[in-house]
Parts: sequence; structure tokens; C-alpha cells
Amino acid sequence: MSHSDGRVGRGAGRVTTMSNRLLEVACEIAEEAGERIREASRSQARIEHKGAVDLVTETDLAIEAFATQRLRGEFPDHLIVGEEASGSGGIARPGDDQLAWYLDPVDGTTNFAHSYPQYAFSLGLARGRVRLLGVVHDPTRRETFVAETGGGATCNGEPIAVSEVGDLSRALIGTGFPYDRREHLDFYFGFLREFIMETHGIRRAGSAALDLCCVASGRLDGFWEWKLKPWDTVAGTVIVSEAGGQVSDFRGAAFEPYGEQTLVSNGRLHQQMIETLGRGFPD
Ligand code: IPD
Ligand code: CA
Ligand code: CA
Repeated sequence: MSHSDGRVGRGAGRVTTMSNRLLEVACEIAEEAGERIREASRSQARIEHKGAVDLVTETDLAIEAFATQRLRGEFPDHLIVGEEASGSGGIARPGDDQLAWYLDPVDGTTNFAHSYPQYAFSLGLARGRVRLLGVVHDPTRRETFVAETGGGATCNGEPIAVSEVGDLSRALIGTGFPYDRREHLDFYFGFLREFIMETHGIRRAGSAALDLCCVASGRLDGFWEWKLKPWDTVAGTVIVSEAGGQVSDFRGAAFEPYGEQTLVSNGRLHQQMIETLGRGFPD
């Protein structure tokens, strides 16, 4: 991990550094959240609307409350940027040197509310603009994706890597549409049209965090989406980078979690995806 590690204790023959304590706590929270989400999925979700197509269930709120309380107890000085606490106002921004957790209790709430089994718990950590670690747990498949900067990426403890597909015409690409899609339908369709014409196929699975993990594990070859939020992307983009993939905006510039554009790929396809996105912009 790129920040200085303070030793915080000694376990059975093992030194516990601040760095691995952060990862340990993140993994414990993700596993417990997964149990709670699985339990909740057995009963009917009570749904409220944040907007016409933007839902929240009592599970989103309960999981965010649980994870926030746990993080506050462990790391009282850290900023916590959770989706549900952020509301419709501006999203809190950490200072350059501040550690901040990015928490999406249920990424894929629409799927969860409809019992469509594609949703995840996502928890990432950054120091200022530097992304440090990510944990994404898929309660349905009982898969936990973990990565820390410089340490590689795993799924259930096994190393994962991006695909080797080098030609967009042989690629399976993921995407998603933001909550203002009804107002800007033609704009978003411009990019979709280009990718439909040039790839093996497009998947809109409904959980950006899992889409990112699919790229990291070679199940997808690339992914793009407009207007994701930092709680959707911080964890998953660390996992993609550590699995050997590439992360940027739509022109290939540095990825900005508070920005509007997320482009990830296996690296080999990155330039082709940038060109395809370029053709999707309106004339
Ligand atoms: C959404 C999912 C979806 C993506 C949306 C996100 P939520 O998150 O990640 O795949 O297309 O842009 O907002 O609201 O289910 O946490
Ligand atoms: Ca989300
Ligand atoms: Ca969510």
C-alpha cells in the first residue's frame, strides 16, 4: 500500500500493520454485510423511490448503517462517504491527505428489489485522490473480490486477472445507464449503438461494482458508464487495476471518481474503446 504503515499490534506470530488492519476490517464488514443481504433477500423488499427509476430498500439503509457504525468504531478519524447518507446534496470530498471510505451498501438495488440475483456490497478506501483498496462481495455467488494497491487482486483468495482479448469484435462489454437516462436517452444510445455494432455483445447487468469485478476476472473484456458515483467505482477500479486492467476516463486521461466517465478494460482493448466512445458523441 502506498501510504506509510503504522504497526498497530501483534497477532499469533504475525505483525498487524495499519495497512493490513484496514483490509482485514473491510473484508470482515463485507462478509457480514453479505450474510445480512442474503437474509434480507428471503423476504419481500420494502421499496421507496428516490426518483422515478431510483429506488432504495430498507436493506440499503440497514446495511449502510451497520457498515458505517463498524467503520466509525474502528477508524474514528476517517471520512465515510456512503451512498444513502449522501442524499441528493453534494458528495463529501476528503482533503488531500485524508483517508475516506466509499460505501455502497447494495449496488444493484433495482435488481435486489426485483429478486434479480445481481447485486453487491462495495467498500473502497482512498487517501485523497489515491485509491488504496477495494472489497466487493457478491452475496448470491458468495464471491469476495479483494485488492489493495500493489498487492494484486483475488476472488475468494485466488488470484484473478483480466482477459487477453485484443480485438473489440471478439469482446463482451458491460455498461449501465444513469438515473437521468429518460431525459438524455438519445445521448446515451449514441455510445450503445457504436458498441453494439463493434462487439460480440453488450451486457447491462445492473451492478457497476460487479461489472468492474467481471472485467477484473476476465468475465467481461471492458466496461463503460456515465455518471457513476465514487461509492460505485473506488473499490472496483482498484480491483481492475490490480488484476492487470486499465482504468481511465473516455479519452484515456486519469480516472476521476468524482468525475462523470468510467472506462475500464483488459488494457489491450482500451484504445479501441476510446475510439468507439469518441464516435458515440453527438455531432
Ligand atoms: C447503480 C448500479 C447500476 C448503474 C447505476 C448505479 P445502485 O447503483 O450500479 O448498474 O447502472 O448507474 O447507480 O443505485 O443500484 O446502487
Ligand atoms: Ca451503486
Ligand atoms: Ca446502492
